[in-house]
Amino acid sequence: MDRLIITDVAPRDGLQNQPVTIATADKLRLIDLLVQAGVQSVEATSFVSPKAVPQMADAAEVTAQLLERQPQLRSSVLVPNLKGLERAHAAGAREIAVVLSATETMNRKNINMGLDQATTVSEETVRAALGLGMRTRAYVAVAFDCPFEGATPQARVVELARRMLDCGAQEVVIADTIGAASPGMVRERTRALLEHIPAEQLAMHFHDTRGMAVANAWAAVEEGVRRFDASVGGIGGCPFAPGAAGNAATEDLVLMAERSGLSTGIDLMGLLAAVDFAQDLLQRPLGGRSATWLRRQRDKQLESLAAAA
Ligand code: HMG
Ligand code: MG
Repeated sequence: MDRLIITDVAPRDGLQNQPVTIATADKLRLIDLLVQAGVQSVEATSFVSPKAVPQMADAAEVTAQLLERQPQLRSSVLVPNLKGLERAHAAGAREIAVVLSATETMNRKNINMGLDQATTVSEETVRAALGLGMRTRAYVAVAFDCPFEGATPQARVVELARRMLDCGAQEVVIADTIGAASPGMVRERTRALLEHIPAEQLAMHFHDTRGMAVANAWAAVEEGVRRFDASVGGIGGCPFAPGAAGNAATEDLVLMAERSGLSTGIDLMGLLAAVDFAQDLLQRPLGGRSATWLRRQRDKQLESLAAAA
């Protein structure tokens, strides 16, 4: 069966901007629950300035402990520069993700570099990671709309994505940072990208600000994309992109895939256990658009089990 490969970015994108402090042990427990649900790839944390993102200050502990607990799990860590790479490597990380935005202003707000410098630093970081034998992903953020500069030119997104692959990144992740894309835009941009990038190296990362994330993912699926980022419970958002809401919820993407003849290897009831855990952690109701329906299915299953006992 045709397969969708989902990277759950909740431990990084989902937790990076939460108002409540989350203990390292709870971050690891969330990842354990994702693995129990069948998730095979996560973005575990980020090695960024703890002044910029205090919630990720325990990146080294998360990385080292995760390696011990889940040695088989594919897990990436976000790094913005060589210093981040050095810290990630020292902690034992085997895969990094660099974060390049497609506009001047978004790079300045996010990583305090202009577009040219951010591109050069991302290239240097990818090359250095390869030299250390690490796997690499490269985000191209604000790939549809930028909160500061408006519509992002398609040609620039394609060029930056291609540059990331040319310097050795194994996967490029096209990110709709503020959830501004719609299926028609996704279809057009995906076609343009696939003229220059093999589908096996292309991933999509949708935020759900306008409720379009699942529709956008489906448009990309129809164009041949099979790799997606998503976040359990739909949590997430870049702290430096005003208006960014949570990511596409993993449970919504899995339900979309499984009901459309694509396998994911992920169990929806297992994901629901992770959503419930995250909800307790963040002390607010969570869950993608399918969560209410999924909870009803779980209640029905429990009732019929009780009736049979
Ligand atoms: P800066 O202030 O320009 O850095 O920040 P600097 O090189 O001038 O150094 C300043 C201080 O930071 C120094 O320490 C450095 O050592 C330290 P001091 O001498 O003051 O004690 N430093 C670091 N410390 C830890 N780890 C590092 C690091 N680098 C320098 N890697 C910097 C530049 C990039 C560090 C900063 O702007 C930063 O950390 N930004 C955080 C960016 C971030 O995490 N954004 C959210 C994630 S991106 C996202 O969510 C989008 C995504 O999901 C895709 C999408 O949806 O679009 C991926
Ligand atoms: Mg994001």
